[in-house]
Amino acid sequence: MLLPILKRLAPAMLLAGCAATNPPPPPDFTSYVVIGEYGAAVARVLIDAPACPEIVLDQRGQPMTLRAPAQTIPLRPTPSAPADSKPAEFPLLTCEAALPAGTTSATVLGRKLPLPKAEPTRIVVLGDTGCRLQKSSNSWQACNDSAQYPFATVAAQAAAWKPDLVIHVGDYHYRENACPEGNAGCAGSPWGYGWDAWDEDFFAPGAKLLDAAPWVMARGNHENCQRGGQGYWRFLDPRPLLKGRDCNAAADDNVGNYSDPYAIPIGQSTQLLVLDTANTTWKGLKPGDVGYDKYRDLYRKLDALSQRAPRNIGISHHPLLGMGADRKADGGIVLLPGDAGLQAAMGSLNPLLFPPAIQAMLSGHVHLWQQASFSSPHPSQFIAGFAGTSEDIVPLPVQLPPGVTPAPGAVVEHFSSWVDGFGFMTMERRGPDQWQVEVHDLQGNIRNRCTLDGRRSVCEVAQVK
Ligand SMILES: [Fe+2]
Repeated sequence: MLLPILKRLAPAMLLAGCAATNPPPPPDFTSYVVIGEYGAAVARVLIDAPACPEIVLDQRGQPMTLRAPAQTIPLRPTPSAPADSKPAEFPLLTCEAALPAGTTSATVLGRKLPLPKAEPTRIVVLGDTGCRLQKSSNSWQACNDSAQYPFATVAAQAAAWKPDLVIHVGDYHYRENACPEGNAGCAGSPWGYGWDAWDEDFFAPGAKLLDAAPWVMARGNHENCQRGGQGYWRFLDPRPLLKGRDCNAAADDNVGNYSDPYAIPIGQSTQLLVLDTANTTWKGLKPGDVGYDKYRDLYRKLDALSQRAPRNIGISHHPLLGMGADRKADGGIVLLPGDAGLQAAMGSLNPLLFPPAIQAMLSGHVHLWQQASFSSPHPSQFIAGFAGTSEDIVPLPVQLPPGVTPAPGAVVEHFSSWVDGFGFMTMERRGPDQWQVEVHDLQGNIRNRCTLDGRRSVCEVAQVK
């Protein structure tokens, strides 16, 4: 702690003695804007300082509110053994301020913040951005190699595309355990669920994109309470930070692991509907399970929200209508359907899984890019989990074999994928329910183009090579 503070103070101390007209440089800090319920925008500043700074909105200064103090959270149960865990340290303030609709400028410590547009027409979609350091799976991604962990490049490319809005489909935090001794690829990486790992995994590499536009921040399973949930609630969720919903005590996990969906209007009678699916399981859920009731409740609220607008685009970290692939012990490939837990819970209320006013679902979780469109009345599914975390490289077929479907009753009409390539997806509005979707690689090339028209979508290339 001491060294970074000294580093930050040193220039100010030097300046104080000589040039009274030159103010000291502001301390290093992280800033971003999150969009939440009904489009409410909130500015966040993460700063190592005695108090929250002032925010200047349309030339008028006002104090930011303290969302979370600097603190160390006592160790809670995690997926790792206690020997591979540590308490989460947050040695900085999380500050926030609402950005009223119509605000035309917002500045903190001289830095301009991005402001929301009432009708965003250029949207970046990406997800699964962290560097995987996980002992249980013996996965040690080379976080120090920008070719093998390219989120900073993805973020810079996506920022250069000049989005009006960024949607992160979840899974921000992957540095769970200490890099093994002698592994140069990840040597020196912070780990665990505190600020240092969050900064290195998300805020630092994502900085250019956080500066470029406001974000919608969906929650992934890496942000459930057992994992990065404390950081999710403290930093990313757009709603108030509530005691008992903060993932700090395992006894409260049935509260902190779930939250209500929310709607974000994006113009032309269209809403984004953001779902928190952090605690579902591919193993399925059944009546009597906590998650079964929670996700049935989520479906009912999603249904009610979707009726507020004729057109909706849903965002859920876990795809219900996409495919994954796994390698069997004998070398064969098994195709995996959509999330079984959500399918069971939501399907118990609607066999079609989604309310009819949802035209498309945006997801991640599977570390690739994918599109699926259906001749049955299901929304199109896009998966954009290819923005930094080690890719899922088991190949998908050009076409799904007859009878193979991501969900019971869903009949695939068009299917497209890109396996083993890093990048991000963009959506540009072409009409009330028409969007042009593009798939971008690390070099800024467009690798696929799709059109989304109502619930139907189709892409130029079935299998990007
Ligand atoms: Fe995930």
